[in-house]
Amino acid sequence: MEKKIILTGDRPTGRLHIGHYFGSLKKRIELQESGEYTPYILIADVQALTDNFNNPEKVRNNVREVAMDYLACGIDPNKTTIYIQSMIPEVAELTVFYSNLVTIARLERNPTVKTEIAQKREIFGESVTYGFLGYPVSQAADITIFEGKYVPVGEDQLPLIEQCREIVRKFNSIYGEVLTEPEAILSSGKRIKGLDGNEKMGKSLGNAIYLSDSEEEITKKVMSAVTDPNRIKKDDLGNPNVCMVAYYHNLFSTKEEIETVCEECKAGKRGCVACKKQLAKNISDTLKPIREKRAYYEQHPEEVDRILQEGTQKARKTAKETMKKIKKAMKLDYFE
Ligand code: TRP
Ligand code: SF4
Repeated sequence: MEKKIILTGDRPTGRLHIGHYFGSLKKRIELQESGEYTPYILIADVQALTDNFNNPEKVRNNVREVAMDYLACGIDPNKTTIYIQSMIPEVAELTVFYSNLVTIARLERNPTVKTEIAQKREIFGESVTYGFLGYPVSQAADITIFEGKYVPVGEDQLPLIEQCREIVRKFNSIYGEVLTEPEAILSSGKRIKGLDGNEKMGKSLGNAIYLSDSEEEITKKVMSAVTDPNRIKKDDLGNPNVCMVAYYHNLFSTKEEIETVCEECKAGKRGCVACKKQLAKNISDTLKPIREKRAYYEQHPEEVDRILQEGTQKARKTAKETMKKIKKAMKLDYFE
């Protein structure tokens, strides 16, 4: 039996951090290694432009950064097709066809889009662009162009998959059963808090550790992490439950170390500086193989280009085949 296609992706608006790693990358690598699927990863540069249209340089640079992050952390181009969204014109074409099958009111009700618009007041002011409001339509094209069945996503993306399913049903009811209705596989891993204790780790919040951060950068960031505010002197009794350093020890340290951290902290026998230094070392050691692999790709940009080009060519071939069926169904198959 042919393996089921799965599609994931990210907007290339910055390098990837440990929040991405625990939240989605780890899961994508597991799915890739299970051998049960044919995975695609799209670098969604067109979607990134919907809220970065005034910053093409940023999007362009981050396509490569994100690609290197993928490769560094274990996305294997021999198993997963990595491709650049804007290089598949069929996706843009399909987006136009789909735009007739969705109402403006329905897009305005999409919870994910609604939340994002509220967060992006500084970009859009009072009036959102047609492109941003419509990005779920473009995402529906991303998903269906490969006749993908499963989309592994986090909870925030579920409304986009639902919107895609509606478009597919509408399309099939009008033009015939051509499209595959995708299903979301909820595959969010852990949601990691920022170094400052914020629920979200993010670039704009300045509270993230990147996969590409050097040992010095990691140490500097960990030193600024929020600790138990009631603990001023070493012999003050601490509460690791309100300390971000303890929180990260739980992610990056051994069981024995975690136990020692908690016991010594509670007993007032542990200095915060030493505690942070140990954490920084553990994070740095964990990320070392990723950092080293990434350094290799930084020194071999031609290899990254080749991987992106080959992945994109492969993806385009599939996209063209699907588009042929779609055009035939829509009576747009005038000539070759
Ligand atoms: N919306 C996703 C994000 O915000 C990126 C994305 C674009 C995507 N197209 C997709 C994810 C298709 C899964 C499937 O990062
Ligand atoms: Fe946090 Fe460690 Fe300080 Fe306790 S000793 S408050 S766990 S940094």
